[in-house]
Amino acid sequence: LTCAPFADLPSDSTMGNAPLVCLSNGHKMPLIGLGTWQSDKEEEHVKVLEEAVNMGYRLFDTAASYGNEEIIGRVMHNFYAKGTMSRCEFFITTKIWPTYLHPDRQMAAFKESLAKLDTPYVDLLLAHQPTCYELDGVTHDPSVTVEMIWQGLEKIYETGLVKAIGVSNWSVEQMERVMKIAKVKIHVAQVECHVYLPQLELVEYCKKNKIVVTGYGSLGSPARKVPFLGRTPNFADSPNMFEEPAVVAVAQKYGKKPQQVIISKKYQLQVLIRYLLDRGICVIPKSSNLERLKTNLHGVVDFHLDESDIERLNNVPHRQRLFMQEHMAGHPEDSFASER
Ligand SMILES: NC(=O)c1ccc[n+]([C@@H]2O[C@H](COP(=O)([O-])OP(=O)(O)OC[C@H]3O[C@@H](n4cnc5c(N)ncnc54)[C@H](OP(=O)(O)O)[C@@H]3O)[C@@H](O)[C@H]2O)c1
Repeated sequence: LTCAPFADLPSDSTMGNAPLVCLSNGHKMPLIGLGTWQSDKEEEHVKVLEEAVNMGYRLFDTAASYGNEEIIGRVMHNFYAKGTMSRCEFFITTKIWPTYLHPDRQMAAFKESLAKLDTPYVDLLLAHQPTCYELDGVTHDPSVTVEMIWQGLEKIYETGLVKAIGVSNWSVEQMERVMKIAKVKIHVAQVECHVYLPQLELVEYCKKNKIVVTGYGSLGSPARKVPFLGRTPNFADSPNMFEEPAVVAVAQKYGKKPQQVIISKKYQLQVLIRYLLDRGICVIPKSSNLERLKTNLHGVVDFHLDESDIERLNNVPHRQRLFMQEHMAGHPEDSFASER
């Protein structure tokens, strides 16, 4: 399981085209990756992944529930077979869905992901939610606490088959409980994060505790209203982030050319992504469009937002959680209970 080229990189270098961040255990993670939720049409996804690797994407964010781990594994393998990339040049994140978060079921579920991804190890394994369900995928198992979920992940970490472990959609209070009993500290917290849900308090807590934050839905997840795992979640409407006045104003500033102000969606996009990067948050925007894929990586690496612009974006008046994760409602570990 040695991964010399990756481990040897100094943390101020880049991997592919993305800057790196050092996790608290020393493992390094690219700050920009590719989200892959809703990327499960094989032919299209293979092309997107191949192009993404060629463009310089190295982090791929998947989950057992996205139904695309096998496709990702196959594409990575083709790169190894051609001799152009090796495993240690990629950073693969996957997640265990609540049905398998019971400590007795985690290892088997993880090994299934490992087999589908066709890899000797994954870089980051996350508990997809803080809630555990029965095998029917619907009935809550209220007996499993976040502490128990974490202890299960620690056992997987001890095998060396994962380089880092973390949580997704957990509250600060749940992370605090786990950090008190943890033998292995939380390395990464993946949460919804964007101008309508800047997660100021959670990011502050994570910084203090050396937990790297990954933000999802950073572009407002415009295609989120599609069936997922056989259900159509009741996603509320939201304003268009690209038209948010503060985002447009900051985009106009950075899109300025000598004689003119260029108002284009491209600059709003760059601002939405830079807003997280400049706060030290990892981003994983998803795109199945080759042009947008390129912009989302190459268009965001060569500039920074000023402190005052970050402050302005921190204070966008509209506040909204887009992913309410209704399936958690009623579970004692529902991390969004106070918002329902
Ligand atoms: N842990 C969790 O519970 C959780 C929940 C949700 C998501 N995630 C992860 O986070 C990733 C990102 O979140 P997300 O996919 O929901 O939302 P997102 O990245 O905010 O938005 C993706 C959507 O934006 C469009 N898009 C991408 N680039 C664009 C651009 N340059 N200009 C205009 N539109 C653009 C994409 O359409 P095209 O494909 O047509 O470009 C896609 O529909 C997911 O893929 C997944 O890996 C995790």
